Amino acid sequence: MRTQVGIIGAGPAGLMLARLLKLQGVDSIIIENRSEEYIYNRIRAGLIEHWAADLLVDVGVGERMQREGLRHWGINIGINGELHRLDFKALVNKRVTIYGQQEVVKDLVARRRADGGPLLFEVDGVTVHDVKTDRPKISFTHEGRAEVIECDFIAGCDGFHGIARPSVPDGVLSVFEREYPFGWLGILSESPPPDHELIYSYTDRGFALYTMRSPTLARLYLQCDPDEDIENWPDARVWDELHKRLGGARKLEEGAMLQKGITPMRSFVVEPMQYGRLFLAGDSAHIVPPTGAKGMNLAFADVMFMSRAIEKFYTKNSGDLLESYSATCLRRIWKAQRFSWWMTQIMHRFPAESAFDRRRQFSDLDYLTSSETAARSLAEQYVGLPLD
Ligand code: APR
Ligand code: PHB
Repeated sequence: MRTQVGIIGAGPAGLMLARLLKLQGVDSIIIENRSEEYIYNRIRAGLIEHWAADLLVDVGVGERMQREGLRHWGINIGINGELHRLDFKALVNKRVTIYGQQEVVKDLVARRRADGGPLLFEVDGVTVHDVKTDRPKISFTHEGRAEVIECDFIAGCDGFHGIARPSVPDGVLSVFEREYPFGWLGILSESPPPDHELIYSYTDRGFALYTMRSPTLARLYLQCDPDEDIENWPDARVWDELHKRLGGARKLEEGAMLQKGITPMRSFVVEPMQYGRLFLAGDSAHIVPPTGAKGMNLAFADVMFMSRAIEKFYTKNSGDLLESYSATCLRRIWKAQRFSWWMTQIMHRFPAESAFDRRRQFSDLDYLTSSETAARSLAEQYVGLPLD
């Protein structure tokens, strides 16, 4: 097989990259090791920044999101049961859209099919070769046959557990990492969320987030121990804790639990995001804790930069944007990392926190909810910094 860009991974990064390249007349092949059904059922955060929602519309993938997505012009910050609304419309005149990541993935796959571009599911044994030459290759097996893609560029869009990042020789990449001493227990409940906007709730019992997938489907999270056994959290205990951490600020209706799971929290970045003709994008290069829901948005920003760089290579015969790809992405990534870390550390209880830490945390929350300048800073980052 021969193509211009070989894309490993059919998550938001790989699928969006393929669409952006298609619009530029650049061919690609996407290979994915999971099944189509699997990627449609992987539950993740569902918050799309202002510019990213516009991007989905601009590239012809936003029609269902515009119909079914919920536009939010603010969020609520709860401090031990007292709610403070941050009004994004007044602060920055921008919004976020609540729409499940797997719905975005379904829409991107449908678009790929309409574009007629190759998208191979359930491939096995993916390896990359010759990435330091201008004819890199990807080998794998598909439906029992050994295959090789010869291409000009390889896009490693295969997530945190993929093969692209580990294929880079030892000593080339620097890793910057932080693990948090807690995780999030998340449920999906067939019940209305307690507010029409999100509630980020700091309480003495720990953090909780009240979000949603639709007006009748609540997505609710509780800070928990990172090694917590889900067996210790029968439904009744989850509801009891969710009621307590909402602190009576709103009424929380219970419903059938459709899903229940624990997610660890981590900040992770590798630098650089390029090795020869292999370019990393999305979760393969960086992970953020979910407290600002930046994951998919960062993946979209990476592939925007990558597609611009590839376009310039083919149309102007210039490799300068490819050369600066990593630095361009990392500037944005580090701002999102800092924001996600900051949101995480002001909203959670830490096992080793001192009395000083707690006073500082309350003071941070007090400043955020009483200063327009502080609120505007959060709003600007939450709705997504403009793409350079
Ligand atoms: N070969 C082919 N595909 C692979 C391989 C492999 N060896 N390893 C992993 N994959 C696939 C995964 O199955 C997944 O479908 O690559 C895809 C990577 O997609 P994501 O993990 O969704 O990562 P990304 O596209 O970068 O999107 C980032 O996803 O993890 C969330 O919260 C994160 O919202 C963020 C977004
Ligand atoms: C979600 O809807 O799943 C969600 C929203 C906002 C977050 C994290 C997760 O900060």
